Amino acid sequence: MTKPFDPTPYLERRRRLAASMRERGGGVAIVATGAELMRNRDSDYPYRWDSYFYYLTGFPEPEAVLVIVADANDDESVLLCRDKDAERETWDGFRFGPEAARERFGFDRAAAIGRIDTEIPELIANRKALFHARGERGLDARVADWLDAVRAQARAGVVVPGQSWDVRDLLDEMRLIKDEHELRIMRRAGEISARAHRRAMQLCSPGRYEYEVEAELLHEFRRNGSQFPAYGSIVAGGAGACVLHYRANDALLRDGTLLLIDAGCELDGYASDITRTFPVNGRFSAAQRELYEVVLDAQHAAIDATHAGARFDAPHAAAVRVLTEGLVSLGLLQGSVDDAIETEAYRRFYMHRTSHWLGMDVHDCGAYREPGLPANGESRPWRQLEAGMVLTIEPGLYVRAADDVPSRFHDIGIRIEDDVVVGADGCEVITDGVPTAIAEIEALMRE
Ligand code: GLY
Ligand code: MN
Ligand code: MN
Repeated sequence: MTKPFDPTPYLERRRRLAASMRERGGGVAIVATGAELMRNRDSDYPYRWDSYFYYLTGFPEPEAVLVIVADANDDESVLLCRDKDAERETWDGFRFGPEAARERFGFDRAAAIGRIDTEIPELIANRKALFHARGERGLDARVADWLDAVRAQARAGVVVPGQSWDVRDLLDEMRLIKDEHELRIMRRAGEISARAHRRAMQLCSPGRYEYEVEAELLHEFRRNGSQFPAYGSIVAGGAGACVLHYRANDALLRDGTLLLIDAGCELDGYASDITRTFPVNGRFSAAQRELYEVVLDAQHAAIDATHAGARFDAPHAAAVRVLTEGLVSLGLLQGSVDDAIETEAYRRFYMHRTSHWLGMDVHDCGAYREPGLPANGESRPWRQLEAGMVLTIEPGLYVRAADDVPSRFHDIGIRIEDDVVVGADGCEVITDGVPTAIAEIEALMRE
């Protein structure tokens, strides 16, 4: 038995997409799901549907296309999907088939995917515009064929859609502000990931390997119903923490070093993204503590700067100031704080930004600058935060060994990352089930 399914949020999203298509004069949207991908002979990569398609349907099978008709005369959502197939279902498992899919997922109509080259030309004939993922390999060619099929009937008076929009531009704006259904899942994903980080803290000790700790994270994700990690987990001991996208996860964890873990689960299509950094032996050294406190203060300042009405850049600016103050006071940067910010000297130790949107994709869709203003990206103001947007707050410091750096700080990499939902007066941290304060981390590791 599959889990119960309520199509209401998906129906509402399709209705909203149709409304924004009508604002542009109406037409037909075509949204295809992701393809299955072969890993090696007879063995596929784990299947994961396309985020846009799933956002609008909740339909989990490959080989499926959603068509939404929205203009002055028509309003229809049509699913094209695989037929029932007793032979294939014996090998690969259950398929809904068009009729059961229509009923369960609330489409007006459904048909077999094998009929796509007949169905779509009929649906797009005499419409004003097409809305699809423009430039997507494979789909563009098929859209050209469907348009040709309509063009072939021009002598019979059939009109070919003359306009084209990228449906992702409409959907990105919708996905940027999460609805209650999405926030419920994201809070739960944040809880599961926080539990996994707690488990990692409690099971970490000198002499273990990074992959052993990674296994504890995956265990906690999966036993709580998460389908996948949302991205490749980073489990980086010692100097590995200074490699921002460290992937090896195969080194021995040594006494006296820190372990940086950047890992989050994907739950029902939504990512979480947490980083914690803690001592392998359960006790921060003095140098580790000094740097850690700077990063934690920066994270608190960034969280305090996150609320509706603030610009997307506000948490980053707040974090950079606190980090730079810390770097100057610890002797890692010389000169004034203002100069180090102005010249971006801090970037030697803090080379990434503080936030990204979070949602179905770990680096989620949505414009970081205000839409609809002059085309030159740099001159457009940063996006104003609105209630329901979700972003990460993830300052860090990465100190590689160098002659001009005090040796006590060599090879220390620290990042602290949480996920927050923007609210009217502040933000809600949805990943606070795992501590960030030094005393709390040390207490948890003693348990
Ligand atoms: N884990 C990817 C990131 O933090 O952006
Ligand atoms: Mn992360
Ligand atoms: Mn992140």
